[in-house]
Amino acid sequence: MASGSFDALIAKIGDNPLLLAQLARTIAAKGDTAKAHELARRSLALAPDNAQVRFVATEILSRGVPHWHFTIVRDEARNEAYDAALRRVVRPGMRVLEIGTGTGLLAMMAARAGATEVFTCEMNPAVAESARAVIARNGFADRVKVIGKHSADVDAEKDMGGRADVLVSEIVSNDLLSEAALPAHEQAHRRLLKPGAKIIPAIGRVRIALAYDAEGDKKRMSSRCGFDLSDFNVLASPRYHIGRGEKRLTLCSDTADLFSFDFQSGGPWPESKSSAVVHADGRPATAIAQWIALDMDGAGHYENTPESGASSCWAIVIYPFVKTLTLPAGTPVTVRGSHDRNHLTIWPEF
Ligand SMILES: C[S@@+](CC[C@H](N)C(=O)[O-])C[C@H]1O[C@@H](n2cnc3c(N)ncnc32)[C@H](O)[C@@H]1O
Repeated sequence: MASGSFDALIAKIGDNPLLLAQLARTIAAKGDTAKAHELARRSLALAPDNAQVRFVATEILSRGVPHWHFTIVRDEARNEAYDAALRRVVRPGMRVLEIGTGTGLLAMMAARAGATEVFTCEMNPAVAESARAVIARNGFADRVKVIGKHSADVDAEKDMGGRADVLVSEIVSNDLLSEAALPAHEQAHRRLLKPGAKIIPAIGRVRIALAYDAEGDKKRMSSRCGFDLSDFNVLASPRYHIGRGEKRLTLCSDTADLFSFDFQSGGPWPESKSSAVVHADGRPATAIAQWIALDMDGAGHYENTPESGASSCWAIVIYPFVKTLTLPAGTPVTVRGSHDRNHLTIWPEF
């Protein structure tokens, strides 16, 4: 049944919230996500306190919405770094563009910091819709406009009435790149920003060090029940993540930047290779640890430094060695990296 042929059924159901939610589930299974979401939201509006309706409707609406939306807003250091940078940079009369609305948190910060107008684009329609509700509930609907589009599809004149003075975004992943931050910044510079517009964060850096993961052996096969299972290790992922505030990682070298991207410059950033030298401290190392640093606006700074013990919404990315490595203190180790604009590869030179 084509989704258009559900219209008669929808009319017949009328305002029965549970039937609407159940029909939304059927329509979602047929692939008409927009219609399914419309019905799910309508059923919720009709029966906000009905637990069964809520279950069915939120099951549909939450599909395809990354779970990290619920964790990033709990990272107080991240929030504070953005809020402080926006308060320093934004002046009354300024027009701010955000790429990646999420909950609307940064867009509302920009408005609170004094922006006359804030335009925030969000490529996920369900997220854009909920952000509009959040922004309205907080009293910013008159100054914060959610554009339900990917940034590449935003038209400066039609969607924003002109270019912006400030760009703020938090579209950096654990390895900085895999949320396509580089192309998004390049395009925004070319099409959506005034010359000299301020960019927050201004610089993003990929940081590395040698590290010892106390639980690293759980990621490898060795002997079990008298059998050597180590040939299975070619099936182990070449990298894994260590999450917020886990206290199992020790850095065993100095730290270095492997890549640095000056977002303020607007790029372009073609695919490239890089290397950095760190120095072993004499303790055993099981991996290269990679994390990120954001230089917000020339004043503020955010870094999910592995050993700080602070919890961050960004995980540490671990590139494990085949074998534990113990080098005399002071031994230089070259760490190499390459990126194709969206993905990062890191390996040691031994
Ligand atoms: C990590 S969240 C950040 C949300 C919010 N700005 C915050 O900091 O709490 C990134 C959001 O940006 C959206 N997004 C990523 N790249 C985008 C792009 N180029 N254009 C529009 N939306 C984008 C994602 O769908 C996601 O909702």
